[in-house]
Amino acid sequence: MAIREIIEIPDPRLKAISTRVEVFDDELRTLVADMFETMYAAPGIGLAAIQVGVPQRVLVIDLQPDDPDAEPEECTAHGDHKHTHQPVKRTPRVFINPEILDPSEEFNVYSEGCLSVPEIYADVERPARIRARWQDLDGTVQEEAIDGLLATCLQHEMDHLEGILFIDHLSRLKRQMALKKLEKLRKAA
Ligand code: NI
Repeated sequence: MAIREIIEIPDPRLKAISTRVEVFDDELRTLVADMFETMYAAPGIGLAAIQVGVPQRVLVIDLQPDDPDAEPEECTAHGDHKHTHQPVKRTPRVFINPEILDPSEEFNVYSEGCLSVPEIYADVERPARIRARWQDLDGTVQEEAIDGLLATCLQHEMDHLEGILFIDHLSRLKRQMALKKLEKLRKAA
């Protein structure tokens, strides 16, 4: 496994339309393993293959919820005060050639971010519930009713397959403000 470079705006590859996966082989397994490693290291909760420069319809998602059964861990990140964190539970999901069926008419709003648009967060409205159909790593077709954060995350990642970023859902003014903020942050870094 290897951590791959995450491409960021304005890299034109982020506008590419990704192609369907037809071959479920070791190369695909390596890509998926690398995508998980890259996503966990970032850290993030979702990644599309195009974000590591591979224009294929492959997504990985792990919402990494708190693990209620685990012992809290002492945090070593800051020396000034002691506190604990609840360890997260790894819940890796792979979606290959995903499709959305029956989006609900009800919408959810989440403050979204994206590893390819670093440090920027904005509210995006998406259907609250969907049915999703996709293929797993063996090429077997799966179908599931999905809601909550996973529904939002899956739709965000699926947008990447069409060359769409979450900021493309914002009004022009809000998008321009977000891009200006990103430019400022990059200059400061
Ligand atoms: Ni994204």
